[in-house]
Amino acid sequence: MPGHAVTASIDVMTVLEAVSLTKRFGPVTAVDGVSFSVGEGEIVGLLGPNGAGKTTTLHMILGLTTPDSGTIRMFGRDLAAHRTWALSRVNFAASYASLPWVLRVDELLDVFAHMYGLRNPRRQVTQLMELLDLGELRDRRYGQLSSGQQTRVQLAKSLLNEPGLLVLDEPTANLDPDVGDRMRELLLREAHRTGRAMLITSHNMPEVERMCSRIHFVSGGRIVATGSAAELAGAYGVDDLEAVFLRVARG
Ligand SMILES: Nc1ncnc2c1ncn2[C@@H]1O[C@H](COP(=O)(O)OP(=O)(O)OP(=O)(O)O)[C@@H](O)[C@H]1O
Ligand SMILES: [Mg+2]
Repeated sequence: MPGHAVTASIDVMTVLEAVSLTKRFGPVTAVDGVSFSVGEGEIVGLLGPNGAGKTTTLHMILGLTTPDSGTIRMFGRDLAAHRTWALSRVNFAASYASLPWVLRVDELLDVFAHMYGLRNPRRQVTQLMELLDLGELRDRRYGQLSSGQQTRVQLAKSLLNEPGLLVLDEPTANLDPDVGDRMRELLLREAHRTGRAMLITSHNMPEVERMCSRIHFVSGGRIVATGSAAELAGAYGVDDLEAVFLRVARG
């Protein structure tokens, strides 16, 4: 192991590498030659106006949509050739993703814990229910929860398999400011504590400034600007990311 330290650390550092991803839906080119990478412990943000191609990009990375061209490497392996291996190391949360509505919160997390083949499913579920403050909701049916409560269950589910890459599509969109803030801090701690990489989309600019070390602005399916929030604000001569967004979105 020590003899391989240098080579291994280079391989391990890049968790996700997307190269020239393109996806068309009939006449619409949703994603047009997008390339970026995410390193271990890094939180990368995809920003851009509605319809820019962010969700389509995430769905290609999750294997839900097949790219027309381009390649995706995860943990050093090609996603198309190592799909099951790669996707078992990934998880996903989004306000629109649906989970079994009739299950109680504790049942739902148990089902996923067993599906993921966890060694100590009960312990993992209990820990995550504590972490996400789901104790009071444990007996409630998922379908009867408020959208913000459902989002917290989604986040718990997304951490169950201790993914090396966590993909989050507008994860805090339904959360009240207090819970949203707690979820952001929790995800930041997770990234620091575990080295978990995260790829996140959001329309909440302060959230992206707080969480993302690197941001790619997507517009019309292409990446049009890249940098940290401070670098982007500097490059556009404005004070914050919100002003950068308005500049980019309005051309
Ligand atoms: N299944 C589909 N069939 C046809 N067109 C699609 C499909 N999915 C996405 N599109 C189109 O692809 C483009 C990109 O959509 P996408 O959902 O990736 O945008 P987005 O950046 O996530 O937007 P938002 O901020 O609104 O979530 C849009 O023009 C959309 O209408
Ligand atoms: Mg979207």
